[in-house]
Amino acid sequence: MKIAIANDHAAVEYKNILANHLRSQGHEVINFGTDERASCDYPDYAKKVARAIQSKEVEAGVLICGTGIGMSISANRFKGVRASVCDNVLAAKMTRRHNNSNVLCMGARMIGVDLMLAISDAYFSTPFDEEEIADKHTRRINKIEEV
Ligand code: RB5
Repeated sequence: MKIAIANDHAAVEYKNILANHLRSQGHEVINFGTDERASCDYPDYAKKVARAIQSKEVEAGVLICGTGIGMSISANRFKGVRASVCDNVLAAKMTRRHNNSNVLCMGARMIGVDLMLAISDAYFSTPFDEEEIADKHTRRINKIEEV
């Protein structure tokens, strides 16, 4: 899968670890994040990943800041982006299954590296519940897109 990843100053190390992990799994990863520890503004980086989703340059995105929350608030302003903050594996699976989430947001100050990798593994290995109960979930997602 082609994945855009970005981060602010709070998550440079986490971004590098996760980008390497995703590449080792065969994903193509484009880094839109900062590689500097100097303070910067997370909406600038959320925007880059959101635009890459909208243009279909990538299929999915990962955004990491201190909490994951600022990134998700920013990314969800962009039509077609369904960004989910996940701090546990079940949330990662469920947001893929029910929300067809396309951007995974995590907080480098909220979770450890091992949990970040486990969340990512769950997220990227779980498909949308398209065949079983797609009508229900697709109808709800379409209502989000109409807003
Ligand atoms: C940066 O200090 C911090 O505010 C940011 O990484 C993020 O947590 C915002 O939601």
